Amino acid sequence: MITNTELEFKGNQYPSKIVSIKHEGDSVYFHTDGSVILKLTVLRDSMLRFRYTTKGYFSNDFSYAIDKSQLHGYNFLEITETELYYQVKTSKVLCRIFKLDLRISIFDLNENVILEDELGFHWEESYEYGGNIVKMSKSSKDGECFYGLGDKATQMNLKGKRVENFATDQYAFGKDQEPLYKVVPFYVGLQNKQAYGIFFDNTFRTYFDFCHERRNVTSFWAEGGEMNYYFIYGPNMHDVVTTYTDLTGKPELPPLWALGYHQCKWSYYPESNVKEVAAKFRELQIPCDAIYLDIDYMEGFRCFTWNKEYFPDPKRMVSELAADGFKTIVIIDPGIKIDKEYSVYKEALEKDFFCKRADGPYMKGKVWPGECNFPDYTNPVVREWWAGLFQELISDIGVKGVWNDMNEPAVMEVPNKTFPMDVRHDYDGNPCSHRKAHNIYGMQMARATYHGVKRFSYPKRPFVITRSAYSGTQRYTSSWTGDNVATWEHLWIANIQVQRMCISGMGFTGSDIGGFAEQPSGELYARWIQLGVFHPFCRTHSSGDHGNQEPWAFDEEVIDITRKFVNLRYQLLPYLYTMFWQYIEEGIPMLKPLVYFDQEDTQTHYRNDEFIFGNQILVCPILEPNSLGRRMYIPRGQWYNYWTNELISGGKEIWVDTKFDQIPIFVKAGAVIPKYPVQQYVGELEFDELILDLYYKEGKEKSFVYEDAQDGYDYKKGRFSLLSFQTNGKEKDLIIQLHQEGKYSTNYSKYKINLFGLPFKIKEIEIDNEKISFDSKAFEKLNYLIVDKGFSELHIIGK
Ligand code: GLC
Repeated sequence: MITNTELEFKGNQYPSKIVSIKHEGDSVYFHTDGSVILKLTVLRDSMLRFRYTTKGYFSNDFSYAIDKSQLHGYNFLEITETELYYQVKTSKVLCRIFKLDLRISIFDLNENVILEDELGFHWEESYEYGGNIVKMSKSSKDGECFYGLGDKATQMNLKGKRVENFATDQYAFGKDQEPLYKVVPFYVGLQNKQAYGIFFDNTFRTYFDFCHERRNVTSFWAEGGEMNYYFIYGPNMHDVVTTYTDLTGKPELPPLWALGYHQCKWSYYPESNVKEVAAKFRELQIPCDAIYLDIDYMEGFRCFTWNKEYFPDPKRMVSELAADGFKTIVIIDPGIKIDKEYSVYKEALEKDFFCKRADGPYMKGKVWPGECNFPDYTNPVVREWWAGLFQELISDIGVKGVWNDMNEPAVMEVPNKTFPMDVRHDYDGNPCSHRKAHNIYGMQMARATYHGVKRFSYPKRPFVITRSAYSGTQRYTSSWTGDNVATWEHLWIANIQVQRMCISGMGFTGSDIGGFAEQPSGELYARWIQLGVFHPFCRTHSSGDHGNQEPWAFDEEVIDITRKFVNLRYQLLPYLYTMFWQYIEEGIPMLKPLVYFDQEDTQTHYRNDEFIFGNQILVCPILEPNSLGRRMYIPRGQWYNYWTNELISGGKEIWVDTKFDQIPIFVKAGAVIPKYPVQQYVGELEFDELILDLYYKEGKEKSFVYEDAQDGYDYKKGRFSLLSFQTNGKEKDLIIQLHQEGKYSTNYSKYKINLFGLPFKIKEIEIDNEKISFDSKAFEKLNYLIVDKGFSELHIIGK
């Protein structure tokens, strides 16, 4: 293991001079006079791939991260040569490859440096394992900032940090603790207001050092495999993140209920307890869509079995819960109990599906059920078998979602908390040891689970959640941030982790609300739910051994706050669904750290707490006890305080007063925010009006509302409804233009438009150039209009 300095190491080897180049299609091969070859591939004008070998030839090119369906293509490619370097030019960037030592410099078309090798590619031979420890170092200028890398529990800007990527079951992890559950070797650099991205697609244990070891050097390295990375040019962070997300893939839409509130605990059992919890939500009128069964529902923790004493008739229970709007989600871990009487174990043994040690015995390790063997999910035949195992749970019993846990993979009572490194994996026909497969094991388990749940849920959409993940896992599943703790510091961590996951391509994420380990105070729980309802995935979970964590475990005030904020989430479902649609369509992160929202404003570069929910709502959690407000940065532009409707100009730090039942929330001026009525679960109510909260702005702003059948796949055949509202405010005039797309006809017939901040009194209203009757007295009291949904232009004319 490399723990100390990777640089200045005597055993480092470096490429020598380039002796020839070969251009083949979208790739250029640079041959050196040693055995080093660099293969540079132009995937898009703004995306270059760099692959190095030290063997004189390349091994099979295989990646679990890359989405094979993504489109490539460039507009322009020109290769030229000077005395010092070769230059590869696209319509966006210039890349120079220096003849003397194979170092790289990348420039924009005005020859401003974007990224430059320091030592560049170098390596150290590994006598023990064969192959190399592969290393890369880049020069970094003062003021450069770094973002991304998945679930790191540290400040948003990674400048000055060193991080390690090795999927790990990190119970009750702390701030800055490394490594954690997920591995996303992707970062965004921001230098001179220009953003670029690096995706180091290497599944071995990797490290990234952001000017930690040396002030002006950024480096990354892996304990094996290839130096294989993608460079993505911005210059906007938005372009970097959406291109990365496109490269590693986007999910399908989840069923809308999955964006509702979920309740979990380790564990709800027996059946009467599950029913009691569900009933209490309805009694207290706190919306809830999903309830989870943790490991105790199984017979001795054997996956795909039920404890018949606790759950005598799961099918009946699941359908009774469903009748009340609850979807049942069950946990499935990778460890299969060694038990000759257990059918799943017997079948996997017969078919030789378990992972083996180097010398032949099956990999054996302790997890909840005791001694287990572990399926090799890197084998496509095993994944297919695993998918098939979900038939009974999904088709017969009616379970709606599956929760994959312990898939780092976690092993108990061993120092490294996981498999020994000699364990063998198929790796989809590229046999390897656990050193290479470790970081993708959880991803491949979740992938197999997703295919199974999808197969048996069809024509409905599947729901899967995983703890471990590698880049690209977002194609199959949502995720949560693992075993956090009920402390204020963890509330801070959760806020950063979810934002970070969003800009790392894996946005459908949330934290265990209230904290998994230990018991939150009512105040902490309230502050956490106030943040959690703005996370793409929203679930309370707790280890259950410290007391209860349902809303009613706290006092009336906290129950009311929980209801108020969960209600708000349910009202905002069409807004949330629209941002999910923008994520699956264009890879746009659902939450945007302030730096993503406005990278030109250097004030945003070190902000951690504030974020943009979707495109138009600014949220800032309260992260300290006894707070009656907080200081926060309001990004540039005009914003309405959600609670007071007061309009303020951003670009400054301000103090915001809040009560215990509020956190700072601001709405961008000009926005049209769609809302549904509060429902106790998705689909509970039929309603005839879509609520549109319109916040006046002088000038233009565009807002979208995406809707469809809320489940199923018809949306892929064009059966969706996309509304785009263009508002244009003038001194005495507001025009709202509506453009509609798609073949889905929504059930409601009207819009109820709530108007905020209108600076004039209304004289008259025209719809599609026709004056409509309008009761100005009533309007002045209520501030809303009700109009038929089919309009193209609504014109509000002032006095
Ligand atoms: C792990 C999970 C946690 C779960 C527990 C029991 O600690 O992270 O969410 O409740 O195992 O299954």
